[in-house]
Amino acid sequence: MTEKSNRRKFLKQVGTLAGVSLVPMSLVEIVWGKESSEKFTFAYISDSHLTQIKGTQFTTNFDDGLKRAVTEVNFMSPKPDFVVYGGDLAQLGKREEIDHGLEVMSGLRGVDVKWVIGEHDYYLDLGDYWQQKVSKLNYSFDHKGVHFVVLCSILTYDEWMDKWPSAEVRMGQMARLDNPQGSPFMVKDPQIEWLKKDLEKIDNSTPVVVLSHSPLYKIFKPWNFWTEDAEKVQAELQRFDKVTVLHGHVHQLLYNQIGNISFYAMMSTAWPWPYPTTYTQQQSAVPKLTVPMNRADPFAARDGTGWGFIDLDSGRANHHYGLWENPSRAVVFKGSQPEDSQFQDPAKQIPPQKHY
Ligand SMILES: [Fe+2]
Ligand SMILES: [Fe+2]
Repeated sequence: MTEKSNRRKFLKQVGTLAGVSLVPMSLVEIVWGKESSEKFTFAYISDSHLTQIKGTQFTTNFDDGLKRAVTEVNFMSPKPDFVVYGGDLAQLGKREEIDHGLEVMSGLRGVDVKWVIGEHDYYLDLGDYWQQKVSKLNYSFDHKGVHFVVLCSILTYDEWMDKWPSAEVRMGQMARLDNPQGSPFMVKDPQIEWLKKDLEKIDNSTPVVVLSHSPLYKIFKPWNFWTEDAEKVQAELQRFDKVTVLHGHVHQLLYNQIGNISFYAMMSTAWPWPYPTTYTQQQSAVPKLTVPMNRADPFAARDGTGWGFIDLDSGRANHHYGLWENPSRAVVFKGSQPEDSQFQDPAKQIPPQKHY
């Protein structure tokens, strides 16, 4: 089947949702509310990394990704109930970058934004400005029978926070991908206590969606695709029938399933990262359920960005991806196992790029 006819078939499958076109964000469809009439959708935009050059000058390419996502959300039909922003709005946590991001996001018409903080928004002033102007760091809300929890998953050890000569140096250290002087992300015990209390009133049969910036499991420590105390968070979620974790940060497609919890990495509006398995210092592995993006070159700025949606019609989370420069695909459950509709067979996969 040609790419064109694949695309057509894919768009036909997604029906009216195809109206969103190819945008670097995700549309999430939730239909597992307690009443069948409670079907709803929300859009997901993440990792825009708006970068100040000086004064009111910002890196155009990153601005363009976010602006395009905002514009296309405004054209969505049906209109999403709300928009999730998955973190890393700023590049170096500057007030100017956060203000600029808020200005671009204010172009969204008639929808609330649920904000998740990323490490690039946090490590300059430890989330002060974010909390003043944008949002709390962790909170929860209920929407049409689904319980949503927002976590701040990018905290780290106190000793690491205190070891730098200035806030700018600390931010610069955390902003690097492959930094041997970095420190792993954490949710930390006080927030896990808060989570425990928040969930006390929630019935096991209520669907739970957790929104975090970093993956709430462990992929690759040298790049901080990692949450140090992820197992403690997972333990609090274990008793629920269905839990979905949506996260940003990794700028690539990843899929994982740990017990009752399905994990989805959402795409970035700014750039894709390569898969860590291409590097010899591998300390952990890309989850085996992931079918990698067939991405030839991570340095092609828009390759690996795109959009997708999750449909939960079957009570399982099926993720449909639309990628700008790659074939569209769907990862859907076959029984208890998720499977890529086209690329599960390793013979059909294009091997990941090698730059080392
Ligand atoms: Fe990011
Ligand atoms: Fe991040």
